[in-house]
Amino acid sequence: MSARLNPDEWFTGGASVGDLQRTLATAGHRRLFQRAIEHASAFRDRVADRPPRPLISAAELQARFDGPTPEVGEEPLAVIDALNSAAEPGLAGCTGPRFFGWVIGASQPVGVAADMLTSAWGQNAGAYACSPAAAMAEKIAARWLLDMLRLPADSSVGFVTGATMASCVCLAAARNAVLAQVGWDVEADGLQGAPPVRVFVGEDAHVTVHAALRYLGFGSRAVRIPADTQGRMDAPALRAALDQGSGPAIVIAQAGQMNTGEFDPVADLARTCRRHGAWLHVDGAFGLWARTVPELAELTAGLEEASSWSVDGHKWLQLPYDSGFAIVRDAAAHRRAMSITASYLPPAGEGEYEPGQLVPELSRRARGFAVWAQLRALGRHGIADLVRRHCALARRVARRLATEPGVTVLNAVPLNQVIVTFGTGTVEECNTLTQATVAQLQDDNICLAGGAQWRRHFVLRLSLIAGPLLEADADRLTSAVLAAWRRVRSHARRRQAVVV
Ligand SMILES: Cc1ncc(COP(=O)(O)O)c(C=O)c1O
Repeated sequence: MSARLNPDEWFTGGASVGDLQRTLATAGHRRLFQRAIEHASAFRDRVADRPPRPLISAAELQARFDGPTPEVGEEPLAVIDALNSAAEPGLAGCTGPRFFGWVIGASQPVGVAADMLTSAWGQNAGAYACSPAAAMAEKIAARWLLDMLRLPADSSVGFVTGATMASCVCLAAARNAVLAQVGWDVEADGLQGAPPVRVFVGEDAHVTVHAALRYLGFGSRAVRIPADTQGRMDAPALRAALDQGSGPAIVIAQAGQMNTGEFDPVADLARTCRRHGAWLHVDGAFGLWARTVPELAELTAGLEEASSWSVDGHKWLQLPYDSGFAIVRDAAAHRRAMSITASYLPPAGEGEYEPGQLVPELSRRARGFAVWAQLRALGRHGIADLVRRHCALARRVARRLATEPGVTVLNAVPLNQVIVTFGTGTVEECNTLTQATVAQLQDDNICLAGGAQWRRHFVLRLSLIAGPLLEADADRLTSAVLAAWRRVRSHARRRQAVVV
């Protein structure tokens, strides 16, 4: 063994050397990885039969993880077993067919397997020099993504943790670029004393867009543009708002409203933005994948005209967490906003690619491997089939729910999201019944979905997005919702407390 590989050279404490030697002797990486794969496979084998909502209390779960600060290292196989048994009862069933909460993809096996390799390879994707393979996987996956999403081919793509960070990156590029138009160099001079930037956001924008604006120094004062009953930004209202002033401006639209699944009229908004020299960003966390489906062309029309887009990999692309893409038409503006230079980071050579210049982190996970693998495994047609299937199933669920007395589907279901209220009385009475129905559904734990506020209504929100769902899965969801509602309704009737 060379001196550098001799564990005696790594530690000075005798106990640590002993621990490490025991580790190497009793559990080499092969046995450890195999054990992890056994646990992972056992979890996946059972996930369809598990209650989708974990039943364990926080106190019980804490007790499983808790213990004194480790002083002496333990046998690694035992540690992996202990991790598995501590975590197992607290794991949600989001990779299974009974999970319809939030907007969560199913971490499909190919992406997971690629992600396991990514961890085992242990690459730092901060620079080409650190890991040429990680950089090249991102370069090619970025090209495929742009092609599949039908976005301008010379846009830049930053592989980030999710749509929140993607919006943050895109809006940083936006902020700097619109200020550069009026002669202000944010990269050199920062923001203090900069000309004001006008920011316009639809009233039903996702909360993470507002978070991104806060991170970037815009505070919470973006102008909120009214939206219609389905959450679509009112294009004439945006025109009027932009006409009221002048100067650098950013408009944030959305493709796929979290509750209704609706799209802002982006083609119209893009025309207005062009007239005002405004940057148009689109939050398309899940909805942007609708671009892969020809039948949804009308819904997604004009999206290619925006200046930047954020989209998740861990939603409709079914990649394991975490994965998102910050896509910017003006690649130079993107790079200027994010670049990090240092003497020890050699610039990219001929044919090389620097993924780290498009994201906020220096050291970073090599997310491109899983993206590359998943895009190959599904292909353009596979992704389109998945999106198409989820949308059809959402319509099926909505249709069936709507035939039940007292159930109202509030959205037009243009995509995969369905929002539902229960009851026929006042809004307040319906909100009470809907809350009770969501609680009953979660107690029954046959299928999992949650509640949300939509305008004045408390709604049950169903997201059909996880994995290869079948009609039987959608029908089980419908039955579970109806069973919960019928229980709540008969209880309410017995109490005669509210109109049902
Ligand atoms: C429309 C929209 N934008 C942004 C986000 C945030 O995405 P992430 O949690 O992946 O950062 C979501 C999450 O559901 C979303 O639906």
